[in-house]
Amino acid sequence: MSERLFVFDTTLRDGEQVPGCQLNTVEKIQVARQLEQLGVDVIEAGFPVSSPGDFNSVIEISKAVTWPTICALTRAVEKDIDVAADALSYARHKRIHTGIGTSDEHIQYKFNSNREEILERAVAAVKYAKRYVEDVEFYAEDAGRTDNEYLARVVEAVIKAGATVVNIPDTTGYCLPEEYGRKIKYLMEHVDHIDRAIISTHCHNDLGMATANTLSGVQNGARQVEVTVNGIGERAGNTALEEIAMILKCHRQMGIETNINTRRISATSRMVSSLMNMPVQANKAIVGRNAFAHSSGIHQDGVLKNVSTYEIMDPKDVGVDDTSIVLTARSGRAALKHRLSVLGIDYDDPGKLDKVYERFLRLADKKKEVTDDDVLMLAGADRKDSHAIKLDFLQVTTGMGVRSVASIGIDISGQKFEEASTGNGPVDAAIKALKKIILKQMTLREFTIQAINKGSDDVGKVHMQVEHDGHLYYGFGANTDIVTASVDAYIDCINKFKTAG
Ligand code: KIV
Ligand code: ZN
Repeated sequence: MSERLFVFDTTLRDGEQVPGCQLNTVEKIQVARQLEQLGVDVIEAGFPVSSPGDFNSVIEISKAVTWPTICALTRAVEKDIDVAADALSYARHKRIHTGIGTSDEHIQYKFNSNREEILERAVAAVKYAKRYVEDVEFYAEDAGRTDNEYLARVVEAVIKAGATVVNIPDTTGYCLPEEYGRKIKYLMEHVDHIDRAIISTHCHNDLGMATANTLSGVQNGARQVEVTVNGIGERAGNTALEEIAMILKCHRQMGIETNINTRRISATSRMVSSLMNMPVQANKAIVGRNAFAHSSGIHQDGVLKNVSTYEIMDPKDVGVDDTSIVLTARSGRAALKHRLSVLGIDYDDPGKLDKVYERFLRLADKKKEVTDDDVLMLAGADRKDSHAIKLDFLQVTTGMGVRSVASIGIDISGQKFEEASTGNGPVDAAIKALKKIILKQMTLREFTIQAINKGSDDVGKVHMQVEHDGHLYYGFGANTDIVTASVDAYIDCINKFKTAG
């Protein structure tokens, strides 16, 4: 008989803290519904006191999903807890996640406090949260660097105060797998009534050990894992949901199982990557483009004879389906609707499908085959519909041995502007022309172009960072024409300026 491991997904909280990856409420609902289909047990929906947007998202996600517990993050501060409880009012199953830093570094430098005072604040926060909800999770921030004896005292005290789950974050991604496992074991052996709470892992990937540390925690008694789709998260990210789910599936002898429907992993990964404009590295375990691609002759030969020679998991088990329908210019609305639904996007409003279908036909005219990534990109394109500044037209002349020339047309809240410029390349010329219209101090800080799939007719994705008035703004553009995609990304940044217009 297998033991159950609870999956706590924090894509919409820890994952969403990545600069440039912020989602609006509608997009968060889309991801939350997909996470529900995937089978996660808990969705951490946000940090309600941090912004009205986060507050609202927790409310709307609570209304949109049924089965998973909805969790809201707080500091060990009464106001935070009040606001979180308010945001959770529509959730069928609700949890408040409160906590405080417990390492000496946090106690001394962040709180200018001492261990006894921090312990008291931890207990007080749990008791305060218990006034609102039965299910209270406590996090001991930077537990990875916290002295085990003190950590055990904190864990024991918060369980006594009513914590149902205790999270042991390796906030800085510092621990070695053996060390993190020992920490969990120490708590299991030294904390009175540890069986009254579930111990949770929350590992960051700064040294590339998040998954190994999480697994080590599970092997030593943790029964909840805090993870994100594609491992996204601050700095080097969090433990990847798909890696833990597939490790436990491939190593059934461990006797631990999750509720994850692994066949939905691939679609979830693509949706998160597309909505957050966060490309997945090609060799990323489980969900990378090359995860199941055998390129060496010896491997190909082996796989053709018998897949078990080089494949430890069936690609179909993670939802990579070679026989997926390829959409072309001849595909109808129903085929597109079906594909969107497979990818986790269902439109209640038929008008929205019509809009995506129009964009689909325009792309299919330029590209032989429209892939799943293209479809996701098209579905997300209406994010820009409400922007004040839009690209009207762009014409570029470029080539070898000549200076590039661009003329550009911009629509600013219905008013049309045109300009032209030369540059040392087509993007330079186009952006210089754009800057003649938008007379603001701005500097391009980062610029990456990536093809979505393969082939010279592919859609190029552009990520940009533009600095303006001391702030960095992140923009995204996608087009079969990479110069247009670049200008779109630049305009996306400008539309986000706090002083836009
Ligand atoms: O990494 C961390 O410590 C966190 C906590 C806020 C749970 O994300
Ligand atoms: Zn974290």
